[in-house]
Amino acid sequence: MKLFLDTAEYDEIKAGVEWGVIDGVTTNPTLIAKAGQDHETQVKRICGLIGNVSAECVSEKRDDMIVEGRRIAAWHKNVIVKVPLTPDGLGAAKILAGEGIRINVTLCFSVNQALLAAAVGAYIVSPFAGRLDDINEDGMRVVADIVSAYRQQEIKTKVLAASIRNPMHVTQAALAGADIGTMPFAVLKMLFNHPLTEAGQKKFLEDYRKTQEARPAAPAGKPVTPEAATKR
Ligand code: E4P
Repeated sequence: MKLFLDTAEYDEIKAGVEWGVIDGVTTNPTLIAKAGQDHETQVKRICGLIGNVSAECVSEKRDDMIVEGRRIAAWHKNVIVKVPLTPDGLGAAKILAGEGIRINVTLCFSVNQALLAAAVGAYIVSPFAGRLDDINEDGMRVVADIVSAYRQQEIKTKVLAASIRNPMHVTQAALAGADIGTMPFAVLKMLFNHPLTEAGQKKFLEDYRKTQEARPAAPAGKPVTPEAATKR
């Protein structure tokens, strides 16, 4: 499962890129508003950092969304145009996908909706797991069912588990067979955490320092510090 960041914050995306662990970014109008930048400017900045950047249409009518989708797609080759899972959104998706534009159908909450997204040639479908959990439904069950239906039907549309709220969601999405999981920066950071990693690394460095202290003084120059020894 590829890991995407669900944010429009430049610094968060830059950090994820520098850690080498993310393959893309999902944005939506709420996240763009939070970043406090103009949509086009921010999406172009993000595209300078990473590929696979979903940018959402805000038009409501099919024909307007087609025009908007073409405009957004022209911003950068890394852009994936996001459209809502509405009749107008899917009508626009069909035309845009036919023109070779990668489409992410967003706001998907059921297997049947995911079948509709696949029918119009979507590159990605985004089931929102967390928002289903919020209304007392099993969001990850829906993700797993979409993956299973797509496999049975040999559908190529990628399943992107969205509205991920915690590290357990990430594990569940991967086990469900999602192609992509998109998560807030805070959740991505939590994926690194394990008390045994922290304790193990602390002990290794302490033991290394002991070997340095036991060595006779270096003939010239400074003794090698663990930081310098592990620097790549
Ligand atoms: C995905 O593309 C959406 O931007 C996102 O995952 C929504 O998450 P939320 O339900 O936490 O707002």
